[in-house]
Amino acid sequence: MRGIILAGGSGTRLRPLTSVHSKQLLPVYDKPMIYYPLSVLMHTGIREILLISGPEHLETYRSLLGDGSRLGIRLRYAVQDEPRGIAEALVLGADFADGEPVCLILGDNIFYGHRLPDLLRQEAARLDGCTLYGYPVSDPERYGVATVDEDGTITTLTEKPARPTSNLAVTGLYMYDGTAAERAAALAPSTRGELEVTDLNLSYVSEGRARLVNLGRGSAWFDTGTHDSLLEASMFVQVLEKRQGIRISCLEEVAYRMGYVDKDQLALLGKELSPSSNYGKYVLDLART
Ligand code: DAU
Repeated sequence: MRGIILAGGSGTRLRPLTSVHSKQLLPVYDKPMIYYPLSVLMHTGIREILLISGPEHLETYRSLLGDGSRLGIRLRYAVQDEPRGIAEALVLGADFADGEPVCLILGDNIFYGHRLPDLLRQEAARLDGCTLYGYPVSDPERYGVATVDEDGTITTLTEKPARPTSNLAVTGLYMYDGTAAERAAALAPSTRGELEVTDLNLSYVSEGRARLVNLGRGSAWFDTGTHDSLLEASMFVQVLEKRQGIRISCLEEVAYRMGYVDKDQLALLGKELSPSSNYGKYVLDLART
């Protein structure tokens, strides 16, 4: 399975924070936001990753993450000229995916759960059609909303419904079989001129081949679309990291634990980060254990 991170958009709701910065590079406590979705893909065992962003920000991502080899992954980059919809990521990534299954993740979605990596690896292995990940929320009208039958097959899916039929929000993490690029290319733009991810997902729903996995209790999901949700995500990470003495979505640690880099490489990564940063010190300490 290959991975695509969509990190474009105009970030209008977060201005002036996003007047010159890419939203997905804003800090979430101790690291750039993009680290969180990237760590999800790495934990799933995905090492071929395409990062898509607007033309004005792509070089910044490249300076931060390079070709991924430091982390034992392969990172490629593609431009989305205008925010023409989430499903356009599959069209832009068609050559990259080359007919293989794809895991698409939105660059502003933050997931945390002790058992999440195992769950995602299991789901990737049993993928048939598409798999979406649901999370119960108190304000489903802000999201894609799904209803499912007792096997987890999606029966209805609606984007930002005025009257939600369930409290299950569809998160920004999607797994697709090798036909997604073709399906996305065949979509007609919506009234707001976008290739809607919900329309893409509905093409699988109509065939009875869309599954929803409820992340539910035991995991946390944040989208960082507002100033409040951005701060809440930072506070969540801060509380967990301080209390447990661990780091969430520390890419160097994930690369090491997944066996993508060895201890010597981890030590080098720690040195590069500088021991005067607590994050760098954490990586160095890990390399010394
Ligand atoms: O966060 C989960 C929700 O994401 C889902 O529940 C919805 O079904 C899905 O449509 C989406 O809703 P949003 O209202 O959050 O979508 P938004 O347009 O804000 O885009 C989500 C992220 O994707 C945002 O960081 C910007 C980025 N993006 C979006 C579009 C439309 C792009 O990079 N390019 C785009 O063309």
